[in-house]
Amino acid sequence: MLSCRRPVLRAIALVSVLSFFSLPALAGPGRVAVSSAHEEATAAGLEILAAGGNAFDAAVAVSAALAVVEPASSGIGGGGFWLLHRAEDDFSVMVDGRETAPSAASRDMYLDEDGEVVRDLAINGPLAAGIPGAPAAWVHLAGNYGQLPLADVLAPAIRLAEDGFTVDAKYQTLLNFRAHVMLRWPETAEIFMPGGEVPDVGTRIRQPDLANTLRLLAEQGFDGFYRGPVAEKLVAGTNAAGGIWSLEDLAAYEVVEREVIRTGYRGYELLTASPPSSGGIAIAQILNLIEPYDLEALDRVGRVHLLAEAMRRAYRDRALYLGDPDFVDIPVAMLLSSDYAAGLRAGMRMDRATPSAALAADPSLLPESDNTTHFSLMDAEGNLVSGTLTINLPYGAAFVPPGTGVLLNNEMDDFSAAPGVPNEYGLIGFEANAIEPDKRMLSSMSPTIVKSEDRVAVLGTPGGARIITMVLLGILDFIEGNDPESWVSLPRFHHQYQPDEISLERGFLSDEEIAELEALGHEVTVRARTWGNMHGVMWDRANDRVEAAHDPRWDSGGAEVRELR
Ligand code: DON
Repeated sequence: MLSCRRPVLRAIALVSVLSFFSLPALAGPGRVAVSSAHEEATAAGLEILAAGGNAFDAAVAVSAALAVVEPASSGIGGGGFWLLHRAEDDFSVMVDGRETAPSAASRDMYLDEDGEVVRDLAINGPLAAGIPGAPAAWVHLAGNYGQLPLADVLAPAIRLAEDGFTVDAKYQTLLNFRAHVMLRWPETAEIFMPGGEVPDVGTRIRQPDLANTLRLLAEQGFDGFYRGPVAEKLVAGTNAAGGIWSLEDLAAYEVVEREVIRTGYRGYELLTASPPSSGGIAIAQILNLIEPYDLEALDRVGRVHLLAEAMRRAYRDRALYLGDPDFVDIPVAMLLSSDYAAGLRAGMRMDRATPSAALAADPSLLPESDNTTHFSLMDAEGNLVSGTLTINLPYGAAFVPPGTGVLLNNEMDDFSAAPGVPNEYGLIGFEANAIEPDKRMLSSMSPTIVKSEDRVAVLGTPGGARIITMVLLGILDFIEGNDPESWVSLPRFHHQYQPDEISLERGFLSDEEIAELEALGHEVTVRARTWGNMHGVMWDRANDRVEAAHDPRWDSGGAEVRELR
């Protein structure tokens, strides 16, 4: 029997005072498009669409396949946000499959006796793992929005787990960061590093335990993972290695349907991630701040300066106000109001940077990273899914409870372990994002849909706190008339309040342009590494064009548009 839990709909007042409007549902594009971080996952989505599934079925197929073939980035032991748009009734919702803190979690669980955060506990092994939300979200998506049986949409993932997939350069690169941790648990290492070595490109990785777990989920729905033998092995294995999970934590996990953040910008309607993601609110705030300016009239330096000033203000508010909306009161209406934006804008100057220290609050900072994963897809009717999924750091907690094949997340590190103390991405938080039992940790994942009567975009990316600014730049590029190929490959820049600096991808600005920014009072850092892995889909209704593109920064992505007959 497939048990499908009843959706829980929680809405918070999320309507921006910017021009918000609802567009009429129009006829579909007659083609499908899928873009994801792995060719095999894109193929799984196309297979399900060809078998008569809709975008929501395909979203489950892609998510589950990514969980198998891109284990560094997301998985059945992790969580995510799936932003859905149904064409026939213009309905949009965010399916929140974010992990929750185990009920035995406590505010100071990562502090030693001197009150210092023990980073190792917060990111490595079972104590770092939140209760997974991904499998419940797949069941929820398929049961409430799909049209094929769950067993059909999970079939490609089960096949990939059983038959194996081949190691690519990304798998290797990300494993190199985490191999030393994974080797602490030989049974886990044996799955991803046969013989204890980072495998060569081309090595086949089979995951029979994961195939069994997926099969139980396919047969029994929620109960196949959250109750019964899989749940028992998860709890036993986690706790034997130092974790604090209970069977009740798993059985009590709930997917939450969240009202999406909606805002308008230059004639486009934006649908984006709501809390417990910080992404949608931050993007809406930045757009609010920049709306009166004519971006296209600015040169590159002026544009980077203006956006950085808006970014720094939105990230200050992220650190101060945002957390799990079921636990903290987020002043959403204030943050999205034009009066509030006008107040912040009054302090912005085009001839000078505002030092972040002049905007009261404490600092945050962040290094690059490219795990987590995003896919964008559309079916022939014009249903859309923008999904960003994660297990947090590459290969999550690097621990698989024996016999389950479930690589656990280390999402607990997205909480603030102590007020103002940076997490692995350098992000800080305060009260709103403190650890509490059963609470969802704040995220930056920002799956987004942008639409007008003529054009529709589906986009998102991994990249820790940089996700928000990458998605923002993609949105602006789309609104300026460009195709997904352009959004995904755009050079990236970022400001997040603290550290008080603009970071740039190498080669974006000339030395002269950097000097101009410095003359305005900005600290500018050019990063050695690129960041992000954006996947986008576009439907240009006016010109009957459908395009899909994957980020050129990694070569394992797959983007395809197909005519289905
Ligand atoms: O939910 C979040 O914001 C983080 N766990 C995402 C981590 C991430 O994007 C890492 N990869 N680049």
